Amino acid sequence: MARLIIVSNRLPITVDKKKDGDLFYHPSAGGLATGLNSLDNDLNKIWIGWPGEIIEDGWEQKAISQELTKDNLIPVFLTQEEKEFFYEGFSNKTIWPHFHYFTQYTSYRDRYWQAYKKVNEKFAELVCKHIQKDDLVWVHDYQLLLLPQMIRKAFPNVSIGFFLHIPFPSYEIFRILPWRRELLNGFLGADQIGFHTYGYMRHFLSAVYRITGYDHKFGKINVGNRIVNVDVFPMGIDYQKYATPPNFVEEKNGIEAQFLDKNQKMVLSIDRLDYTKGIPERIKAFRQFFEKHPHYIGKVTLVMVVVPSRSNVDQYADLKKELDTLVGNINAKYRTFNWTPIRYFYRSFPFNELTSMYRAAEIALITPLRDGMNLVAKEFIAAKEQSKKGVLILSEMAGASNELTDALIVNPNDSVDIVNALLQALEMSLEEQEERLVKMQENLKKFDVRNWAETFMNEQIGLIEFKHKQKTNLINETIEAKLLDDYNKAKQRLIILDYDGTLMNFNKDPQAVVPDQELLDNLNILHSNDKNKLIIITGRDKDTMVKWFSEIDIEMATEHGVWIKRKGKWRTFTNIYDTWKKDVRPVLENLVHRTPGSFIEEKDYSLAWHYRKIDKDLGEKRIREFKDVLHYLTANLDLQVLEGNKVVEIKNADVNKGKAAQYWLNDKKWDFILAIGDDRTDEDIFKVLPSNAYSIKVGLNQTKARFNIMSVEDVRTLLNKITSKT
Ligand code: UDP
Ligand code: G6P
Repeated sequence: MARLIIVSNRLPITVDKKKDGDLFYHPSAGGLATGLNSLDNDLNKIWIGWPGEIIEDGWEQKAISQELTKDNLIPVFLTQEEKEFFYEGFSNKTIWPHFHYFTQYTSYRDRYWQAYKKVNEKFAELVCKHIQKDDLVWVHDYQLLLLPQMIRKAFPNVSIGFFLHIPFPSYEIFRILPWRRELLNGFLGADQIGFHTYGYMRHFLSAVYRITGYDHKFGKINVGNRIVNVDVFPMGIDYQKYATPPNFVEEKNGIEAQFLDKNQKMVLSIDRLDYTKGIPERIKAFRQFFEKHPHYIGKVTLVMVVVPSRSNVDQYADLKKELDTLVGNINAKYRTFNWTPIRYFYRSFPFNELTSMYRAAEIALITPLRDGMNLVAKEFIAAKEQSKKGVLILSEMAGASNELTDALIVNPNDSVDIVNALLQALEMSLEEQEERLVKMQENLKKFDVRNWAETFMNEQIGLIEFKHKQKTNLINETIEAKLLDDYNKAKQRLIILDYDGTLMNFNKDPQAVVPDQELLDNLNILHSNDKNKLIIITGRDKDTMVKWFSEIDIEMATEHGVWIKRKGKWRTFTNIYDTWKKDVRPVLENLVHRTPGSFIEEKDYSLAWHYRKIDKDLGEKRIREFKDVLHYLTANLDLQVLEGNKVVEIKNADVNKGKAAQYWLNDKKWDFILAIGDDRTDEDIFKVLPSNAYSIKVGLNQTKARFNIMSVEDVRTLLNKITSKT
């Protein structure tokens, strides 16, 4: 039976070695571990990760492995040095601050990067040892960005998913990293990449396009020989666990009763100690609240739980000191004999106590400066299932704010905004509280953590089927053998080839794509064979093709079929005209003027605007603007606007490659037809071919062609094989 192999840096169970050497096992904190651990236990899964303690003794490692295996957990043991350079280093001093926009904290040490690669390899080796046929692998988070590519290298066909639990920053931030390309290639080893929000996904796609050049269509990136699906899967929580906690006893002497009397309001915040969480800013805003609304002094308490985290990283240790001072100051200033403004806990709490706090609090004040998701916000809302009382104040910088839109959304950098939200929350009517809570609860119930994992995995499984279907269309050895055999047997063969993107790869400068000698030789062999009719049908202009193919007298169609060369003579349609150019050219010139780097190509009967050298989004924006003007201009002219690969072309409506192909198709009764092309304009050829023709699309995009071939290089190999039969 196929299994799910989860891989994350941290296992959901952490091992603590006490001073006396005793091993103590407890649940890990943090969104990833708590969220994923809520997944169904009857799911056939194993989980590979670090148990959070440095264990170098072989016997101890064995004992821990044995203990964890009972829960299908497989430990990866890190050495002290790996912990320092991989975990505290590259993971938490480079990627974590950088991806959270704290670039002032980003460390650029090569030593950290080397350790990061090494530990990712260590994980990859262990994962590869466990992979069985049909297993799904699901890798998590920023500590293991290189893992998908490493696993892919060892198992090219295994299905790999990757989920990033933290933000993916804007391209302008991401590009600063010296290792940006390697990191993206690591991600792209996966079949599917998930983010919490559309914003992170957008940033990722933009970084991939700008750094690696791989473009996408609706989140599907074509990486040459594979499609990578990028999508948004906001992580949910185990709703019922917080709504109706198991073994929950309403403690009369519990938190609720203990420190809040009827005149007291409890504001709650729970975070790991992290500079991304905006804790000092929150405390300052809380102090400002008392300054601005002194009648609340003595009536509102902030219960602030800060869970120790990454204490060996300098910024975390510094933050701890800062918090101690800030809390000390405000408490010293405002406390009375029977009231303390901030009850500050620097430790973690067991689940039951956490839920008691959620239930007791009137307000949750969650104001991270950046946060991938923030599960605490969701847990608070779920814990209000029964009472329907409570207000969530949530930072707009947390991923969760995209879903929890009925919270009071604040900018965590704007203390006035926080102060106002606190006041609004304290004074909110019970009806409004309920109304807001119910809407959010309905959503959280529906989109819980199981739904999150199932949606991710179902999409991943869907991709396996899609890949399988794609493979059946992809030219493989059997199809190739049949093609060569049919070619051999045939006596009247028609071969139609597109040029750019089919015989030659694209270049930023279209004039640089001169055919190489090997290609010319091959085409010559095909052309010289009496049984063959070889044709090139291209969008290029006639003069360039004449210049480049002066050595071989091949028949061809240029400008998508405006010019046809047959039996050594060029001719064009009689009804074609170019008088419209004088009206259209100024529009294109205006475009070039406004868009440095773009240029106009003038052909006999068409005008093309190329934006190959500039930002793709800018080019597309310009086209949108220009299309309206153009449609207005061409309303009564018989023109068409063709959008190609970073080019837009205006030409007579009557012309297309399919019509051009028909000149030759109608010539004879061909007993073998081969047509290869890569872009939208070649689809017109595929459409007019008989059903037994070998029509082949370069790339994995949807097509009318019968087959796909991966790349220009593969086309060239196929042609080599054909010519060796010639
Ligand atoms: N949490 C915990 N023990 C604590 C405090 C918090 O297990 O004492 C859990 C909390 O319930 C939540 C997670 O830690 O599920 C924190 O996740 P979140 O997404 O809010 O932040 P992260 O730590 O991932 O940045
Ligand atoms: C965040 C990260 C997780 C990480 C957790 C706790 O939620 O996204 O990957 O496990 O914080 O951090 P730690 O460094 O203790 O694993």
